[in-house]
Amino acid sequence: MLSETRGKVPRMTTGKKPKTSYRCSKCAHKSPCWAGKCSSCNEWDTFEEIVTTAATKTSNAAAVFAASIAEQGAMHEAVSLLDIKAPAVARISTGIEEFDRVLGGGLVAGSVVLLGGDPGIGKSTLMMQTAMQIASRGEQVLYATSEESAYQCKMRADRLCGGFKKTSDSFERLKILADTDLANIQRLVEANKPSLLVVDSIQMVHRGDLDASPGSVKQIRRCCLELVYLARQFDMAVIVVGHVTKDGQLAGPRVLEHMVDVVLSFEGDRHQGLRSVRGVKNRFGTTLEVGLFEMSASGLQEVGDASAFLDPDLPPRAGAVAAPVMHGTRCFVVEIQALVAKGIYGQAKRRATGVDGSRLTMLSAVLEQHASIELIEQDVYAGSVGGLKLIEPAIDLPLCMAVMGAYLGHPLPTGWCAIGEIGLGGEVRAVPHIEQRVAHAKRRGYSRILVPITQVDALGPEAVPVASIADLTGLIEKNKEIFSPEMMLSDEKKMKDSLAC
Ligand code: TYD
Ligand code: MG
Repeated sequence: MLSETRGKVPRMTTGKKPKTSYRCSKCAHKSPCWAGKCSSCNEWDTFEEIVTTAATKTSNAAAVFAASIAEQGAMHEAVSLLDIKAPAVARISTGIEEFDRVLGGGLVAGSVVLLGGDPGIGKSTLMMQTAMQIASRGEQVLYATSEESAYQCKMRADRLCGGFKKTSDSFERLKILADTDLANIQRLVEANKPSLLVVDSIQMVHRGDLDASPGSVKQIRRCCLELVYLARQFDMAVIVVGHVTKDGQLAGPRVLEHMVDVVLSFEGDRHQGLRSVRGVKNRFGTTLEVGLFEMSASGLQEVGDASAFLDPDLPPRAGAVAAPVMHGTRCFVVEIQALVAKGIYGQAKRRATGVDGSRLTMLSAVLEQHASIELIEQDVYAGSVGGLKLIEPAIDLPLCMAVMGAYLGHPLPTGWCAIGEIGLGGEVRAVPHIEQRVAHAKRRGYSRILVPITQVDALGPEAVPVASIADLTGLIEKNKEIFSPEMMLSDEKKMKDSLAC
């Protein structure tokens, strides 16, 4: 028995069986099973067998990729890292500084950018502004709109014209194609050879020869692949607009992200002022940068400094705490607000807008455990003013202070702000770029900046060290100007002792 099983060698299989289908030789009608009479043309004995393997299915797509790589100058021999020369990357500035910033200096010729975002956030507006800017500099632009009519595009362009040179020349060079057929887009690219092709949106574009409905994963994937090939072939920049699904994924189950060179996400609350374009993937630059915009009556306006959304003259309010946050390489002071309201015991809600909801839940638990703030039957709401999405853990301390302030009903004094990450033990942890944050907060007129105790050295007299969340209770309750030196010393000693342990 044993020897029998030992003799068997396990085989690795691809797991895909070849598929057999039948096609009528008279009318090309397809059927999954053989039939004597074709149900479409009523001819007898016309069905032929077709065997499809996974390899034949993917061969077209693979051929497209292979051709594209061959055109890029594929290498068949391994080359030493030292001998590889960097190709000259031709950048096309979009004429919109905030958009260029997130792209890493502009669009790259021959590359594909995927811009995703919720409906109504402003994707088409940003695309039209970019298209008009590039056309106004003498470049050919093709705008393929698959969702709106050419007239709707024209109306949007007219609305945006305030900041553009409305010369007939620039409008001449911007071609609008209201079509959903990819073959027509390809035909017009060949005819016009544009520097920029905008496809708004990929969900509606389709290939007639594919047996799948527009918007299906098969169509989206294949159309995007063809667009990647087109970008390489004509050395033009392509921007593909994609809708975000209900669960926040780009164009279905992340089917496109690996194919394109840059993935950008347009975020923000469409009912709020601030919107941001964030890099998710960028083969030509950093994904740290964020472009900031505000929607106005004449399109998206660039926002150089989001701190401008904060009114420094507002009187102090319980539950509102300012924080110097980093967005890419820039620092802004934004306000974090919280509200604590009576809820149902055991069913208390935690709701967040602009800040991470799961982080709010975790911090509420830390506050209960380490600062004696009883939130078990309290609903906690938190958000960032202006609609800016704050994702860094460095906002933990101001967020906790906002919740504590709201719970205790005590505001922080004017001119105070805070920054720091909070651990599960309630300790305040170091954050990156602390010097830049403190310097920016000082420039914006803040005279006291609560910082992690481990980073207070060399930050100047404005920096107030905080060792743990438990210290904050006294601070918020009594509105003390700064911690007393004795308290600081004891905290520092406590921390050193715990570290030694
Ligand atoms: P749109 O760019 O069509 O969003 P998306 O393509 O992401 O679905 O427009 C978003 C919203 O912005 C729309 O509801 C109208 C508004 N809007 C303005 O407020 N000002 C403007 O100048 C434009 C063009 C649009
Ligand atoms: Mg749109």
